Amino acid sequence: MSSQIELTSEILKRAAELADRLHLHNYRYYALDDPLVSDAEYDRLMRELQKLESGHPSLQNPNSPTQRVGADPLEAFGEFIHDPPMRSLENAVGEEEVREFEERASRYLAQTYDREIKNFEYIVEPKLDGSAVELVFKDGNFESGGTRGNGSQGEDITKNLQTIKDIPHRLKRSKDGLPPPRYLTVRGEVFLDLDGFGKLNHVREEAGEAPFANPRNAAAGTLRQLNPKITASRPLKICIYALGRVDGFEFKSQSHFLETLPEWGIPVSPDWHKCRSLEEAFERYANFIDGRDTSPFEMDGMVIKMDSFELQRDLGYTSRAPRWSIAYKFPPKQEHTVVEGIIVQVGRTGVLTPVAVLRPVRVGGVEVARATLHNQDEVNKKDVRIGDTVVIQRAGDVIPDVVAVVQDLRQPGARKYKIPRKCPVCATPSVRDEEEAAVRCPNPACGAVVRESLRHFASRGALDIEGLGEKIVNLLVDEGFVGEPADLFKLQERRDELIKIKGFKEKKVDNLLAALDEARRRPLPRFIFGLGIRHVGEHLAEVLAARFGSIEALARIDRETLIEIHEVGPRVAESIINYFGDERSRRVVDNLIDAGVAPEAPASPAEAGEGPFAGKMFVLTGTLAGRTRGAAKAAIEDLGGRVGGTVSKKTDIVVAGESPGSKLTKAEKLDIPVWDEDTFDRALLNKLIP
Ligand code: IVH
Repeated sequence: MSSQIELTSEILKRAAELADRLHLHNYRYYALDDPLVSDAEYDRLMRELQKLESGHPSLQNPNSPTQRVGADPLEAFGEFIHDPPMRSLENAVGEEEVREFEERASRYLAQTYDREIKNFEYIVEPKLDGSAVELVFKDGNFESGGTRGNGSQGEDITKNLQTIKDIPHRLKRSKDGLPPPRYLTVRGEVFLDLDGFGKLNHVREEAGEAPFANPRNAAAGTLRQLNPKITASRPLKICIYALGRVDGFEFKSQSHFLETLPEWGIPVSPDWHKCRSLEEAFERYANFIDGRDTSPFEMDGMVIKMDSFELQRDLGYTSRAPRWSIAYKFPPKQEHTVVEGIIVQVGRTGVLTPVAVLRPVRVGGVEVARATLHNQDEVNKKDVRIGDTVVIQRAGDVIPDVVAVVQDLRQPGARKYKIPRKCPVCATPSVRDEEEAAVRCPNPACGAVVRESLRHFASRGALDIEGLGEKIVNLLVDEGFVGEPADLFKLQERRDELIKIKGFKEKKVDNLLAALDEARRRPLPRFIFGLGIRHVGEHLAEVLAARFGSIEALARIDRETLIEIHEVGPRVAESIINYFGDERSRRVVDNLIDAGVAPEAPASPAEAGEGPFAGKMFVLTGTLAGRTRGAAKAAIEDLGGRVGGTVSKKTDIVVAGESPGSKLTKAEKLDIPVWDEDTFDRALLNKLIP
C-alpha cells in the first residue's frame, strides 16, 4: 500500500517536472527562436509526459504542454488571431505507431458515427523543417499573415511575409477561368533551402556574426525580424500544406486543395502523393528517406493525411492535433566515421569540454568534422578512444553527438583519453566540481575564458553588439586592444590604430564603434546577463533587474535577500555572491561603469517592484474562464506582482481555475493561499490583496 502511494507521488512529481521543462522549451523554441535542447530530446520529454497522462487520467489538464501548441507571442509585433486555431501534429516513430494511428481513427469513427471504414485514402507530403505561418487572402489579394504563436494567437508578420517572393500579392484565375475565392486562409511552412542557408551563414560569419544552428532557426529568426529589409535580404521560401478557412469555394479533399492552389499562384508542398493504403504510404516513406541526402531542403519526416475533407471533419481534433493526420518522423541522421583525435575546448565559464576531431563525413547534407563528447564521464561511459570508429548523429543542431563506438571495428592501437589536468590555454591546474561532471579552468584571466566572455557579452541576448563576432573578438584580443569588456568602450579613442589592423577597414571600424556606442544604454537585464555570472540566464537576469533596479544595488546584495527570490536557489545565490565578492569581477563591473556604460533600469513600477502586488509571487494553474494565461500574467505584473511556473515555499498565492493540476495539490500541501477566479477578479478590480 505504502509503495503504491509513493509511486503516485513520484509520478506526480515527474509529470510536473516534465510539464515545466516542456513549457520552458516551448518558450525557448517558439518565442525566442533559441532552443535549449534538440528536437529529439523535446520529443522524448513530450512522449514521456503523454504516456504518464494517458496512464493516469487525473494528470490531464488543459494547460499541460501535451494540450497546447507553441508559446505565447512576444509583444513587438501586433496580434494575429487564428480562426480556427493552428494545431500541431502527433508524431509516430516506426510503422507500428502509424498503424495504431489508423486503428484509433477507425475506432473513433465506429464509436461516434457507427461508420466502419476499411480503406482510407491518404496524401503524403514531406515534413518541411521551418516555421509555420498563416496567410490571409481577401478578394484575391494577400492581406495579412502571422506566425503560429500559441496556436490561437500568433504575431502579425505581414510586412515580413510581403518580402517573400513565392507569396503572390494577388491571386490569378486558374487556366479554366476559375476565380480565387472571396476569402481564403491557408497554412504552410516558411523555410530556407540548404543552399540559401549555407549562403546566409557564410555572410554572417564574414560579418563576424554567430551562424544559425540550422535552417529552421534561421527561418524562424528571419520571420520575426523587426526590420523587413533584413527579411527581404534572405532567401526564404514557402510551401502551403493546409487549409484554414474558405468562403466562396469548396475543397473536397487535400488532393483537391493541393491541385487547386497552384492554379491561383500559391505554392504547395513539393512532392506530394496520393496513397490508397498505409502500405503504399510506407513505400513512399522509404523513397523519401532515400532522397533525403540529395534533397535541396531539410525534411524531418513525412506527413500522412486522410485525403477526404468529409472524413477530416468527422474525425476532428484533439486539443492539440488532428485525428486525421500524423507525422511519421525520420530516424536521426547517423553516419560512421573515425575519431582522429580528441581536443579540449575551454568555454566562457572555464569548463573544459572534450571534442572529438573526426575524419570529415557528410551527415544529411552537412559536413561534420567535430562532435562534442560533453565531459570525461561521457567519454568513459561510451568508452570512446582515439582511433575508434564511431556512430555520429545530427539531430537538427550544428554540433553533432557521438552515439556509440563500433566495438567490432576497434583497432589494437586505439588510445584511451583522459582530460588534461592543466588548462590547455593557460596551463593553470584544472579543478573538478564535486556536484558536476565538469572540469574547469579556475583562472579568470585565461585567454579562452576572456575571449568567450567577451563573445558572450556582445552576443544577441546580452549587449547585442553588431559586428562583434568570434573573428573580431579574437582579432581585438590578439592585437592587444581588449582584455576585458570595459576596453571595448575605450576603442573610440584608438580609432586611428584600429584602422591600421589588416582586414579591418575604415567602414567596418566605424560601424563597430557606432554599435558599441549604442550598446552603452542597453536594458539592465541584458547587461546582467552579459556579465556571464554562472547560473544567471536571460530569465533570471530579468528577475534580478526588476528586483534590484540597478547593478550597484545587485552588487551589494546579501545571500538571505537573494534566497527569498522565487527563482533563486542556494547554488544560484552562491554563484551571484561569489561573483560580486570576487575582486576581479567587481573591477570588471566598475570599469564598465567608468567607461560610460549606463544600462537602462526597468521603468514601470511593476518592473521596479512597486504596486499593490509588489513582492508577491503568484502561480497560475488550471483554466481561467475570463482571461488567457498571458492576460492574467500581465494583469498581475501590472500591479507589481510576479508569476512563476512552479509552486514552492517561495510562492505567495496560487490562482486556480478549472481543472487545476498538480500545482494545486502542492499548494495545499505547503499551506499556500489558493484563490479561485472570483477572488482573483476582485483583487485585480480593487487593486489589493484581500
Ligand atoms: S499539417 C492540422 N503538413 O510540422 C495540420 N504540417 O509538427 C497541421 N509541417 O505545425 C499541420 N510540413 O509547422 C503539415 N506537410 C506538412 C508539414 C507540416 C511541416 C510542420 C508544421 C506543423 C508541424 C507539426
